[in-house]
Amino acid sequence: MSQALWLTLQALVGAKHVQNSEEAVAYLTDRQGRYVGQVIAAVHPANTEEVAAVVRACAASQTPVVVQGGNTGLMGGATPSADGRAVLLLLDRMNRIRAVDTDNDTLTVEAGCILQTVQQVAREADRLFPLSLGAEGSCTLGGNLGTNAGGTAVLRYGNARELTLGLEVVTAQGEIWDGLRGLRKDNTGYDLRDLFIGSEGTLGIITAATLKLFPRPRAQVTALLAFDSLAQAVALLSHARSGFGAGLTAFELLSAECLALLQEQFPEGPRPFKGTRQPWFALLELSDNHSEAHARETFEHVLGEAFEQNLLADALIAESLSQSEAFWQLRENMSEAQKRAGRNMKHDISVPISRVVAFVADTDALLQQHFPGVRHYTFGHLGDGNLHYNVAHPPGSTVEAHMAHYAELSQLVHDSAHAHGGSISAEHGIGQRKVDVLARYKSPVELDLMRRIKQALDPHNLLNPGKVLAGGQA
Ligand code: MLT
Ligand code: ZN
Repeated sequence: MSQALWLTLQALVGAKHVQNSEEAVAYLTDRQGRYVGQVIAAVHPANTEEVAAVVRACAASQTPVVVQGGNTGLMGGATPSADGRAVLLLLDRMNRIRAVDTDNDTLTVEAGCILQTVQQVAREADRLFPLSLGAEGSCTLGGNLGTNAGGTAVLRYGNARELTLGLEVVTAQGEIWDGLRGLRKDNTGYDLRDLFIGSEGTLGIITAATLKLFPRPRAQVTALLAFDSLAQAVALLSHARSGFGAGLTAFELLSAECLALLQEQFPEGPRPFKGTRQPWFALLELSDNHSEAHARETFEHVLGEAFEQNLLADALIAESLSQSEAFWQLRENMSEAQKRAGRNMKHDISVPISRVVAFVADTDALLQQHFPGVRHYTFGHLGDGNLHYNVAHPPGSTVEAHMAHYAELSQLVHDSAHAHGGSISAEHGIGQRKVDVLARYKSPVELDLMRRIKQALDPHNLLNPGKVLAGGQA
């Protein structure tokens, strides 16, 4: 059976674009090194028709299909299972820019485009494509849409779903749905686009998208702010929102422990606020459509008011592009700093912004009660109520001993987020890692609706089985 499929796949996309598990080894382990898969074949189709033909061939032999982008996901959503039953679909050859329409402010690109390339194409058209995240140099647009990626500009521009107007999708039956509409208004029934986005390759395979473009800011001011408390940071966020309006394009939180870790792991990097004892910091970015002078004037006015109202303790304003890049580098190095320091328990929760302070206070206290001495590395996208609430082993203990309590500790964190009206996955998705966790927090009604959608679109459970919802692995 698999030999016949292998030959069919070779005939469909060309022999040199079909690899076995050995040749495709780089795609078979997830970025965290947590999951390792096997496949019948890894296939690199050249265009949407070839994707559709591959899916039809797989459907005919009841072979699961797993699609993978840049393999930068954190939930194992793009890693096939170890049973070796699946075909892995890689869209790296599908990286064409199909259209740039500056009058409509849209860009149509294929799913295999690297996010940074999409940003660059927008820039060359004097526009902004605002999706921005640490992995942008290697993640692909298809992966961004499959997981409804978030990142650092969500508070102003929204996540991947909100940046997308149209999609082209290959269905589980191998049909092509051309939904590449560049329309900002289209009230014609169920929104299939929003169903496929964030479905992690379980409902269809996104092969291209029409994206929204925005005016490119003429100037940006970046600052690192220090706070006496998390409540003060939340109050400043609210002040900055009303003072800057749509100009507020980032508000990224770092705890003092995170800043110390960054300085320990990147000793050659910047050392802002060295010696200060504030517990919380934030990176704030103001974008301005007029000029540098206007941006700085607005910035100083709003920050001046904030100082008068005791909404912050200190501020460092970037004086040059390179200083601003250094501030951003600090924030973007957080994942790497944690990796260098040894594994910790990552959580990607969101709560309403009004509950952030209570969530952190309650959860920190709860964890110290159950796991005395654990260290908290809390950072993230405060402007979206999205915290990476990460927990490392207590001093004197080992990473291994700490990780042995993963399920128990994470459940406390997720229960707490849920109790505060939050989500157990704000932007990293469900993949295979959080399938069971999801089932604990979604109501039976919601889970049943999700299962019925899956059943309707992929009745044989061939698209990325075992991801998002419980079911057969591939
Ligand atoms: C981030 O915001 O830096 C990432 O979403 C968190 C991560 O990579 O763990
Ligand atoms: Zn994040």
